[in-house]
Amino acid sequence: NKNPLILGIESSCDETSVALLRGFDVLSHVIYSQLIHQEYGGVVPELASREHETAISRVVDKAFAGAEGLTPADVDAIAVTYGPGLMGALLVGLNFAKGLAIALDKPLIAVNHVEAHLYAPFLEFPELKPPMLSLLVSGGHTMLIDVRGIRDFTILGQTLDDAAGESFDKVARLLNIGYPGGPVIDRLSEKGDPEAVVFPRPYLDKDSLDFSFSGLKTAVLNYTKTKESFTDQEIADIAAGFQASVVDVLEEKVRRAVLKTGHKHVILAGGVAANRLLRKRLKGLETKMGVHLYYPPLKYCTDNAAMIAAAGVLYYEKGWTSGLHVPAVPNLRI
Ligand code: KG4
Ligand code: ZN
Repeated sequence: NKNPLILGIESSCDETSVALLRGFDVLSHVIYSQLIHQEYGGVVPELASREHETAISRVVDKAFAGAEGLTPADVDAIAVTYGPGLMGALLVGLNFAKGLAIALDKPLIAVNHVEAHLYAPFLEFPELKPPMLSLLVSGGHTMLIDVRGIRDFTILGQTLDDAAGESFDKVARLLNIGYPGGPVIDRLSEKGDPEAVVFPRPYLDKDSLDFSFSGLKTAVLNYTKTKESFTDQEIADIAAGFQASVVDVLEEKVRRAVLKTGHKHVILAGGVAANRLLRKRLKGLETKMGVHLYYPPLKYCTDNAAMIAAAGVLYYEKGWTSGLHVPAVPNLRI
């Protein structure tokens, strides 16, 4: 079966998402984003599990309703996130997928969520083929990865402390401007002057492809202590200065990794890939370094089931399926 129909299910964090893919064609895609966590300025694990539990069967129904003429019986395999993520949240999607696999007598494909972020660009550019260099920047991960093939990659560098998205979220909390921090800082930075407040660029040593963002967050914290209160313009300037620092570092590390690997395809993946300054600056590397930059549309950058199903398509083609015994693994690595 060259063009399998794959059902994808994602529930690792605060998005309940289900997608139906025919090959890399997205037939239907539903993302239910849990808003309840906004009140708490971060994802509350127990609330996330409960929200997944009440949403999952409706989200699955909605995905089938969106794919005309298709029923669960038409599915060739069920791809589902089994880690990394929150234990309770993962269990909801995984157990639902196992139930479906048993009821439909179809194979289960357990997918590593982080690995799936690497394949998200295939949804938009199905002709794209490894080797490629991937910058994966999300709330939980900051990695530069040499992708030689499906399930064949090397981590060239990663964060030693906070993830890039996590630093956006923490700085937004410091500035009291909302959650999740990335989109807020992205928007606010447009009104700010990135040179009004200059924060450090943690490049680490000359050859390093690793990252460190916690010092930058501390620099912002210290700056916020220099005055009693800040005007909206000053807050926008701090946001812009912080964003400029993160993006400078990410751009420089991508530049180094391109020189090191010689890869011509550069992939931008994960939630922070939505950042407009980052996209613009990496786009600039195309002419400077003769590479091609690929980034998926926003809905495939942040957590979504289409990328889980895309991983399912690739695995299915290779005949890789999982048994029903596969456990949820909160700290799963790629
Ligand atoms: O990939 P993702 O949806 O979830 C994880 O697996 O972590 O990424 C979420 C992260 C959050 O930290 C969020 O603040 C960040 O991506 N993010 C952004 C932007 N949109 C989302 N960071 C910077 N700029 C954005 N526009
Ligand atoms: Zn993610």
